[in-house]
Amino acid sequence: MCGIVGYVGKKNTKEILLDGLKELEYRGYDSAGIAVLSNNKFESFKAIGKLVNLQEKTKDFITEGFAVGIGHTRWATHGKPTELNAHPHLGENSYVVHNGIIENYSTLKKELMESGVQFLSQTDTEVIVHQFEKNLKSMHNAFEAFRATIQELEGAFAILLVTKAEDKTIFFAKQGSPMLVGINAEGEKYFASSDTPLIGHCTDVNYFEDGDYGFVSAEELSIFSKDGEKKAPHFSKLSTDKLSAQKDGYRFFMEKEIYEQSDVIVDTMMGRLSDEEILFDEIDKSLFDGIHEIKLCACGTSYHAALSASYLFERYAKIKTSVEIASEFRYREPIMTKDTLFVVISQSGETADTLETLKMAKKAGLRTLVICNVDNSSMVRLSDASILTRAGIEKGVASTKAFATQVTLFWMLTLYVAKLRGALKKEEIIRQISLLREVPASLIVTDELHEKIKRLSKRYLHGHGFFFIGRDIFFPLALEGALKLKEISYLHAEGYPSGEMKHGPIALADPELFTIALLPQHLLYEKSKSNVEELSARDSTICAISPLEFNKADDFIKISTCRDYMLEFFEMMVVVQLISLEISIRLGNDVDMPRNLAKSVTVE
Ligand code: M6R
Repeated sequence: MCGIVGYVGKKNTKEILLDGLKELEYRGYDSAGIAVLSNNKFESFKAIGKLVNLQEKTKDFITEGFAVGIGHTRWATHGKPTELNAHPHLGENSYVVHNGIIENYSTLKKELMESGVQFLSQTDTEVIVHQFEKNLKSMHNAFEAFRATIQELEGAFAILLVTKAEDKTIFFAKQGSPMLVGINAEGEKYFASSDTPLIGHCTDVNYFEDGDYGFVSAEELSIFSKDGEKKAPHFSKLSTDKLSAQKDGYRFFMEKEIYEQSDVIVDTMMGRLSDEEILFDEIDKSLFDGIHEIKLCACGTSYHAALSASYLFERYAKIKTSVEIASEFRYREPIMTKDTLFVVISQSGETADTLETLKMAKKAGLRTLVICNVDNSSMVRLSDASILTRAGIEKGVASTKAFATQVTLFWMLTLYVAKLRGALKKEEIIRQISLLREVPASLIVTDELHEKIKRLSKRYLHGHGFFFIGRDIFFPLALEGALKLKEISYLHAEGYPSGEMKHGPIALADPELFTIALLPQHLLYEKSKSNVEELSARDSTICAISPLEFNKADDFIKISTCRDYMLEFFEMMVVVQLISLEISIRLGNDVDMPRNLAKSVTVE
């Protein structure tokens, strides 16, 4: 996830910007840059990789006296992590930094290019600065030009812009992406994407609301709401604890990442949903020419996302789909045919086993696609095509938001392929897209739900094991629920298909066997219910998750009534994640760094 900093004041602007970016490192990034405007003269520096590279580049640059400065750490979404794509982006006399995605950038870019503007980067961000300068030429007023520019942008953004036309001012706008401004007794102003860079510098902060825009100078902080009304800043006291600020007040990064899912899914879908079809600018439709089978290959949670996708590919795109565990596939002399699209899924893009299978597929001459969260990772560089999940950095070792974005992206990809193959009627694709738009709401964690799970978790701290059970696509979700619990609670848990319990595992049923039953209303409800009743009759302790009341359970977690099983999938996903989290916290474990596990498994 990108990070933004800004500064208006008389201190060492370069150091303040670099220190601020350092505090945002936890968000993840692949390049960074700063621009400083002092005495109507710009200095700008960019570097790929870690901040030390930027520090090295700026070591001879000294800032003295009053200046305005902006800085950025970039997590690539549009365009590779190169120096040209790094922010700040330059127009003729202005620089901009931006978090988020400008959905209508290609339309704006086309118009600007037709009027003779030359673009240096592949980013969506660069249109902002050129559009601003175009408006400035006709309006001759920097603030009016900025306001007009903001009104022309669609999508999500937090923007800081500096221009020689008003060289003591930073212009800002916020829509969808986080940003705040901080002040202190010395009259300095600081901007950042989160609290941490401001701690120690500012006493009070104003968190911008969506639609806010305005400007800041040494003397003034002017905020306007989206309807153009001037509004007073709403200051609150700034916390002094950096680690808790990074966690946004949550107890663990995993908890924060569970809560973030509703927002990051918006990023995953941004610019990719039209009313009637799914758009993936980053891949060519010819990738699917002559393809008769899709083979999905991954490890761990990514494998569960792949398994979920296999149900959707066959159901919606009507294409034969198989799923492979990478560590098995690489040694089993598999038969690979060239009419198969080989898809690897990886949050990190570095998992050794998955990477090896990608190499095997390439060697066998298969077309390859990677679904990944990290641009420029080994898998992204190696495969023929890539689609980024845009989950932002995931710090908790136990994957949560990466899984949510992977499943969502796969759901979109199945509809994309369904359209190419004519496998779904237009009306059904439109309906599916409208369902996708409801996913962010399904992922919201309510206080009521979280409190209920906190309370209930105390009854699940012992016993001789857990079975998470579900049918159809709820089976991979059961596997994922069990994996989460194992990883952070160290309790034994298995994911199992509900209908398979009677073929063996039911022998384990007794009050000390905990069954977490996934009972969606819109997919095989009666069948799944019977399976749970069989366990209940044998005295297993049951925790049922369903929108429909179920009186054979010891505990019941009600999800909301929604209109499709995929929305139930996402609500239940949040529930199983929270169950694991709360059990682990009660057991006193290190939720974010569970024993024996690593975030990126680059060994066999
Ligand atoms: O980076 P990847 O998605 O390739 O990682 C695969 C697994 O190592 C990973 O999903 C692991 O299972 C997580 N700890 C799950 O929470």
